[in-house]
Parts: sequence; C-alpha cells; structure tokens
Amino acid sequence: VKGTGGEPTATPPPPATAGSRMAAAVERYVQERFAQEDPLLERIREEMAHRGLPTIQVPAVTGAFLALMVRISRPGRVLEVGTLAGYSALWIARALPPEGHLLTLERNPEHAQLARSLLARDPAGARVEVREGEAGELLPGLEPDGGFQMVFVDADKERLPFYLEEAARLLSPGGLLLVDNVLWRGAVLEEAPEEDGATRAIQAFNDAVARDHRFTSATIVPVGDGVLVAVRG
Ligand SMILES: C[S@@+](CC[C@H](N)C(=O)[O-])C[C@H]1O[C@@H](n2cnc3c(N)ncnc32)[C@H](O)[C@@H]1O
Repeated sequence: VKGTGGEPTATPPPPATAGSRMAAAVERYVQERFAQEDPLLERIREEMAHRGLPTIQVPAVTGAFLALMVRISRPGRVLEVGTLAGYSALWIARALPPEGHLLTLERNPEHAQLARSLLARDPAGARVEVREGEAGELLPGLEPDGGFQMVFVDADKERLPFYLEEAARLLSPGGLLLVDNVLWRGAVLEEAPEEDGATRAIQAFNDAVARDHRFTSATIVPVGDGVLVAVRG
C-alpha cells in the first residue's frame, strides 16, 4: 500500500472478504493470460525485493493496461510522476511508437539510479529519461504547455490537486491523464477519518476530476488498485 509520500504506509490490508477473494482471483486470471512478465520485468521486482525497496510498483495487470492505453493513443511524449525502479516505465516504454519518448520523474536518488540501470537492459530504455528531483519543483519547469500526450501519476497522494493542474497544463487536446491507486483498496468507498490524509486526498481528487470541465470521458477502471482515466478536452 502506498502512502502520501509514495512510500509504504501502515494501512492494513483489506479484510479477506468473499468480495476481495474474488477480486484477487480475477486479477490472477487476467494476469496469467494477458499480463505475463518477461525476465526483465521479473528482474525489476526481484531487484527491488533484494534491495529492500518497497514493492509498491503497479501490478502486472496495471502495467499491461498502461501499455494498452499507449498502444491505442500512440503518444509522442509521455510523462510519468513516480519512477521507483522503472517497472511501469518499462511497460509504457515498450508500447511507445518508434518516435515516442517517456520522461519519468523520481525524487529518490537510489530509485532513480536503479531505474536507469535496469531500463538500460532493454532496447526500449533508450526512449526513457529518468529525471531525478521533486516533482513539485520539476513539473512547473516542463515545457511547452500541451507538450505531452499522456501523463501517468503514481506518486504522493496529497499532491494530487497540484498534479491535476500540471496535467491540465501539460497535456495536449485529446491527451490522456492516468492516475494509479484511485480506489485505494476500496478505502475511498467509506468516509475517511481526518487523519487519513491519503484516502481523503484521493477521494477529493476523484470528485474534482469528475467535475472538471477541462477533462472529458473520465472514469475509474478497476484494474489493480484502480486507474483513473480522463481525456484532456
Ligand atoms: C508508487 S512508487 C512508483 C511506482 C512506479 N510507477 C511503478 O509502478 O513501477 C512512487 C515513487 O514515486 C516517488 N515519489 C513520490 N513522491 C514524489 C514526488 N513528489 N516527486 C518525485 N518522486 C516522488 C517515490 O520515491 C517512489 O519511488
């Protein structure tokens, strides 16, 4: 589970209800058929575990969904906020058209360095720039407005309102906004206590996107922990 800083939190796992067992079985079914990892994707997960990094990368089914979005929309430039070890970046980069490029932002130097070295093992890695720094500082410097055709946000949750503004600025008309963890293991369905900043931020974000006239066709795809998808109008 990811917290406000994109780091693991003490949030307990959801209770093992019949519903959650069914959801896990469905995810396994889809993953075995449509989201199989090759050795490098496996290696990224193993390397993270070996180094004791939080295993908070997207699940394979979400990686495959991101790749599908890339293949359908054929973006020239993609922006990712939150690289970790480059797992989702590799799913995205491999699906890019030949001239496509992924810029991925990561504030943790160890994560950024590991991602660079792992992505260099794949030909698609040549289409990726891992830029080290705090997204709050890097994003305002990105240009031009409308210069990206896809933005994928997978970082600190309390900064979501800022990421929404930056995505609205940076996406070209028709560009796709994708945001991971918007179901937060179902926690968004219940009223959250005031001290649960991450859940409250995600709830407010989902509501804000639903009302935001700059985006159309917004929805939540219940893949993995929920991916919000919206089209920049
Ligand atoms: C959930 S992980 C990203 C996982 C990655 N997208 C994947 O699926 O392989 C979140 C990452 O975002 C980074 N991060 C969190 N907040 C950030 C911020 N404000 N600026 C830059 N990086 C941030 C964390 O250091 C962490 O590596």
